[in-house]
Amino acid sequence: MVTSRIGVLGRGRLPAGEPVLRGDDLGVLRGDGLFETMHLRGGRAWLRAEHLARLRTGASAVELTLPADAALLELLDEVADGWPAEVEGALRLICTRGPEGGGPPTVYATLSEVASAARQARHDGVGVATLSLGVPAEARPELDWLPVGIKSTSYGASSAARRWAARAGVDDVLWISSDGYALEGPTANLVWLAGETLCTVPAGRTGILPGTTVAWLLAHCAEVGCDAAERMVTPAGLREADGVWLTSSVRGLVAVHTLDGEPLRPARRTRQLQDLLGFPLPLP
Ligand SMILES: Cc1ncc(COP(=O)(O)O)c(C=O)c1O
Repeated sequence: MVTSRIGVLGRGRLPAGEPVLRGDDLGVLRGDGLFETMHLRGGRAWLRAEHLARLRTGASAVELTLPADAALLELLDEVADGWPAEVEGALRLICTRGPEGGGPPTVYATLSEVASAARQARHDGVGVATLSLGVPAEARPELDWLPVGIKSTSYGASSAARRWAARAGVDDVLWISSDGYALEGPTANLVWLAGETLCTVPAGRTGILPGTTVAWLLAHCAEVGCDAAERMVTPAGLREADGVWLTSSVRGLVAVHTLDGEPLRPARRTRQLQDLLGFPLPLP
């Protein structure tokens, strides 16, 4: 078992259990912060530039001043340095608004081994239940005061959805808008195959998180003979699909085998898409 690591901007690597936040940090008091989680493979953070770009977009949306990229990259390198190449890692970069009353942002990074359950899900797929989000699909981007599509540390709704999933005995949740469209999971984007077209939900129109994994997948799916498209879809539409998946940085691409207790069509191309994304399957 490889132990978790932690590093703080300006302090470097610290012992894993070392406290790094003040009690009055707004990240803790208000969930006022942003983060990114990257997949460390072969000792390198995959799609690092894309994650940093999304962090910067989010920071500008919530008026959070970030250190220069060079400092963030140095911190990530310090934490990842010497991590065994054969061990998949989850590398998180967290930037909070800092102490109450106007301190500088708190910036730190953590690294831990990818949980075996996440790796196993790539092999086994997941059972998913739909869960109402209670707002129309396109309502949130229309609110000019509300930052959308940001990876905020305010994960209250996501955590509640995950607890709901555990009580309901399913692996994950798919949020459905009040006008009936499937949007995203609490920690994943939705992908489905319609014929030979690989589809996902438009982030700009709906305010969901623009996923780095799905963006890369759709940009490269021509390599396996698929077209890419952004579309709206209902749960009934997903039942007609030739494959339904959830994508995220650490779990990668996992097939949805069951939706609301009913089996979906077997997902064609799961292994091919996982290979394209470069995610290893669990050892037998
Ligand atoms: C709400 C939400 N949607 C989608 C994703 C997937 O994004 P990415 O592929 O960049 O990890 C995440 C990741 O945690 C998420 O929290």
